[in-house]
Amino acid sequence: MNKVEVAVIGGGPGGTDCAIRIAQRGKKVAIIEKKYFGGTCTNWGCIPTKAMMTSAHLYGNIISKGKRLGIKAQAEVDIKALMKHVKRSILSSRKGSEFLLNKYGVEIIKDEAIIKNGKFCLKNDDSEILADNIVLATGSAPKIPESLNVEGVWTSDDVFELEELPESLLIIGAGVIGVEMATIFSSLGTKVTLIEFMNRVVPFEDIDISQLLENEMRKKKIEIITGTSVNEIRKTDNGFNSSLSNNKSIESSHVLVAIGRKPVYPDGLEKIVKIEKGIETDNNFLTNEKNIYAIGDVRAKVMLAHVASAEGVFVAEKLSGKNSDYYRENWPGVIFSEPEISSTGVKETEKGLPDGLIKFVFPMAANGRANTLAEREGFAKIIAEKDTMIIKGASFIGPFVTDILMEIELAINEKLTVGEVLKSIHPHPTISEIVKDTLEGLEGTPLHI
Ligand code: NAI
Repeated sequence: MNKVEVAVIGGGPGGTDCAIRIAQRGKKVAIIEKKYFGGTCTNWGCIPTKAMMTSAHLYGNIISKGKRLGIKAQAEVDIKALMKHVKRSILSSRKGSEFLLNKYGVEIIKDEAIIKNGKFCLKNDDSEILADNIVLATGSAPKIPESLNVEGVWTSDDVFELEELPESLLIIGAGVIGVEMATIFSSLGTKVTLIEFMNRVVPFEDIDISQLLENEMRKKKIEIITGTSVNEIRKTDNGFNSSLSNNKSIESSHVLVAIGRKPVYPDGLEKIVKIEKGIETDNNFLTNEKNIYAIGDVRAKVMLAHVASAEGVFVAEKLSGKNSDYYRENWPGVIFSEPEISSTGVKETEKGLPDGLIKFVFPMAANGRANTLAEREGFAKIIAEKDTMIIKGASFIGPFVTDILMEIELAINEKLTVGEVLKSIHPHPTISEIVKDTLEGLEGTPLHI
C-alpha cells in the first residue's frame, strides 16, 4: 500500500467518522475494513435491531391497541419479509458509509490488518501498513463464556440470520441487548424468558426505570427472573435445557446470550500497545505507543456507537492540528424497549440520591401527546443541585423519550439551571413538554399535576 498520513483500522461508526473528518481536513487517509463497513452498529447492532423493532412495534400495536384506536385489522408476521426489511436497512446503512468515505476521498482498503513481525500489515495484500499515525477502531464482539458456548446458542450476531420465529426464547442478561431483544421477540409472538444476574433489569439505569420497565415487560407476558444466572446449557431434541443458579431449569427452543461485549483486535497487538480490559489510552486516545491511537469499543470503556464517533472525530481533529473537544463526563444512553428509555447524568440507585441533589418525577399519564398515543405508562425524573438548581441528570421512560433527551444532555454539559431551560417554550402537544412539566416541579410550581 502507498504511504498515508493516517491509517484507520476498522470501518465502524468510530473509524468511519474519524477517517471522513481527517479527509475533510485535507490529510491523506486510508481506512482498512476486513468485512463490512458500518461495523457492529450497521450490521449486527443499532440498525438491524431498530428495523426489527419497527416491524415488531407495528404488529404489536395492531394486535394490542388496534381495537382501542378504532382500527379493525387482521395481522400476521411474515418473518421472511420482515428479515428483508432488516437486510435492506443494513445494506442502505452500509452503502451510506462507503458512499461518504468515497465522497470525501478516503482510500478504502478491504483487507484485514494483522500484526506480522511486530508490524501492522495487510493480510491479503501481504504488505506493511505505511502510515505516520494509526488509529485502532476495531470494535467489540459478544462475550460468551465457555459454559454457555453451546452449538446453536445465539449471540446478538446470530439473530439477524433467523429464518423462522423462535417458539420460545431464553435470554441471558437483561442489559440493553437483552431487553431490546425481549421486546422484539415477545411482540412478535415468541414466549420470552429473561434471566438477569443482578437484582433488577437494566441495572445500570435509574432504579425507578428498572421497576417500571419490569412491570411493563411482565404485562407483555415476558417472564423475568432476576438475581439468577445460568450455570449450564444442554442441547435437547427440541432445543435447549438451561440449568439456573436457583436450581431450576428452563426448556426453550432458542437461547440468546447477551451478557456484554469484549474488545476485538489483531492477534499480537498486546506486544505493541498496553491492553488490560481493552486497549489503554490517555485522555487524547493515544496508546502507550507514539502515533498509535485507539477509539471506541476496543477501549472497553463506553461501548456506544455515538461515543465511538465522538472519540474518532476528536482524534481526527487532533491529528489535523485542530483543537476540538466534547463533553466526556456524561453521555446520552437510549434503550429501545417498550416503553423506550433514555437517560443521562446522575441516576438514582438503591441508595437514593447523592447528597445535595433534589429530584422531581412527572408522570407520562399527565402528558397530552402520550394520551393521544394511548401510551400513558412512563415518567420523567430530572435531578438538580439543590443550592444552585443546576441540572445534573435525567431519566425518561415512555413513548419517543429517546428523542427528547438531548435538551437535558445540553443543559448538563452547559451547566444550565432549571430556570434557564424553562425560558424556552415547549411546543404543545408533544412528549417534550414532559421536560418543562418536570422542571416546573423542581421549582415547586408544576402547572399540570
Ligand atoms: P450490558 O452490559 O448492557 O448488559 C449485560 C447484562 O447481563 C447486565 O445486566 C449483567 O448484569 C447481565 N449479566 C452478566 N452476566 C450474566 C450472567 N452470567 N447471567 C445473567 N445475567 C448476566 O451488555 P449487552 O446488553 O450485551 O450490550 C452490550 C453493549 O452494547 C453495551 O455496552 C450496550 O450499551 C451496547 N448496546 C447499546 C444499545 C443502545 O444504545 N440502544 C443497543 C444494544 C447494545
